[in-house]
Amino acid sequence: MFETVITRKLNIKYPIFQAPMAGGPSTPALVAAVSNAGGLGNLGAGYLTPEQIRIAIKQTRELTDQPFGVNLFVFNQPEESEETNEAMSKHLNFYRNELGIPQNPSLQKLSESFDEQVHVVLEERVPVFSFTFGIPSQDRIQSMKQRGTFVIGTATTVDEAIRLEASGVEAIVAQGSEAGGHRGTFLKDASNSLIGLMALVPQMADHVSIPVIASGGIMDGRGLVASLALGAAAVQMGTAFLASTESGAHPAYKQKILSANEDTTEITSVYSGKAARGIQTQFMRDMCLYVGEIPSYPIQHIMTRDIRQASAKANNPEFMSLWAGQGLRMAEEQSAATIIKQTIEQADALVKNRFN
Ligand SMILES: Cc1cc2nc3c(=O)[nH]c(=O)nc-3n(C[C@H](O)[C@H](O)[C@H](O)COP(=O)(O)O)c2cc1C
Repeated sequence: MFETVITRKLNIKYPIFQAPMAGGPSTPALVAAVSNAGGLGNLGAGYLTPEQIRIAIKQTRELTDQPFGVNLFVFNQPEESEETNEAMSKHLNFYRNELGIPQNPSLQKLSESFDEQVHVVLEERVPVFSFTFGIPSQDRIQSMKQRGTFVIGTATTVDEAIRLEASGVEAIVAQGSEAGGHRGTFLKDASNSLIGLMALVPQMADHVSIPVIASGGIMDGRGLVASLALGAAAVQMGTAFLASTESGAHPAYKQKILSANEDTTEITSVYSGKAARGIQTQFMRDMCLYVGEIPSYPIQHIMTRDIRQASAKANNPEFMSLWAGQGLRMAEEQSAATIIKQTIEQADALVKNRFN
């Protein structure tokens, strides 16, 4: 049941991916639990050092012998303006003061080296490599494929999907506007690339010949069946796994996921300089009033890091980034295996009962 071109290619039982979730939620325990349950677990490794990636891969391999994926962020050189950065740093001191942490911390390095991160993924010969925020060089995509790694890109519009197909990737995650976390948009402005999944999947499936993986707001068997009907070959679910037993999300974040509803999320760039969907917080509301420019990604991400970390330490979700998709009312505190099992059972019943 639910065998698709993706389950056959990846040698997995069910067409369900657990979304890579950088920043803590997608622990090796979660990734392995999903893969052991017949789905495809994905390590969100975008913020990890090359050495941390190697360790996370090793830990995952100790917990599962099933296929799993590693996901990275394609690095784009940010536009830098001393003035914008200084004004922001000064503004953020207000929150630092509230949280009792030092003012004007020096900026840490912008990001891990994408080259070095990719090198580890290559060396480790992981079954699946996915990426977001752009397209890596042809060389990198080809070397992954030559080592037997299945390569997946992320698109938020049909044009992005067409570009990705031309670059040689083997499948595409269609990220609808419902999706939690950062937008993978890389061609137009984020605001022009907010396509609902219902409209995005069939149009993408019509215009590329490689498999499309639907992502955004999918929480259960209904979302799975609907996505397959729209032309997807699998689904990628993030928010559905955020409050799972194996998720590494902070307890205060999990609590918010379990209590917040579909009308409490918003797309914002105030945390990182890149558009991302998350549950509204005091930080988001306050920063709406900021009249200056927000430094671009990843500068703003680095600038707000101490604030997010101090907020987490204080168990105060109001200054943390609480990435979540619009399906969050359906999130449950279950084991990852139960989430997969329930999703498949519900989808199975829907199909058997002919949707009655
Ligand atoms: C907490 C969180 C972190 C995320 N981190 C990543 C990431 O590191 N890489 C990536 O490609 N997508 C990331 N995403 C986006 C997911 O791949 C996916 O598009 C999204 O979760 C789908 O929407 P849903 O949360 O409604 O299921 C993240 C999403 C969330 C909620």
